[in-house]
Amino acid sequence: MGSMVVYESRSGHTKKAAEAIAAALQARGVEATATAVSATDPASASGADLLVLGTWVEGFIVVGVGPARPARQWIDRLPQVAGTQAAVFCTYGVSPRGTLATMRSALEARGAGVVGEAAFSRRDPTAGVEAFVEKILAARSS
Ligand SMILES: Cc1cc2nc3c(=O)[nH]c(=O)nc-3n(C[C@H](O)[C@H](O)[C@H](O)COP(=O)(O)O)c2cc1C
Repeated sequence: MGSMVVYESRSGHTKKAAEAIAAALQARGVEATATAVSATDPASASGADLLVLGTWVEGFIVVGVGPARPARQWIDRLPQVAGTQAAVFCTYGVSPRGTLATMRSALEARGAGVVGEAAFSRRDPTAGVEAFVEKILAARSS
């Protein structure tokens, strides 16, 4: 089935990181495509070998800092994906705070095994992508 890199991006930083992640997976022989949450049916994740989910960090007055609303809504519609390996990432301006932990718990609640997480500063959203992908692939082969 290959890998899905699914991202929520408003101004392009998270899209840039997602595309770099997909390219790094492809360079290591792993089939991968990067698509926006708005263009990706959450139901399609149930067949994926690997789900990499990314968002930008959004601060809300009531619920605090976390995944941007469209990413939260996408996760809410995600079916049970028991056994699927997953990884989460975000881009942020100031601090990701609990964004990655929130995404990790939400995916784990649907049965995914989360093998990696990474926060990328919007100042350089692709710095650290190679190490993130290496870590995901190392976890998969062990
Ligand atoms: C409405 C709004 C709220 C934001 N809130 C936060 C925040 O609470 N903490 C933070 O670190 N960055 C915050 N940011 C910065 C974004 O997370 C950051 O610029 C991100 O890289 C944007 O990704 P994108 O280019 O993919 O849309 C906010 C940005 C916007 C537009």
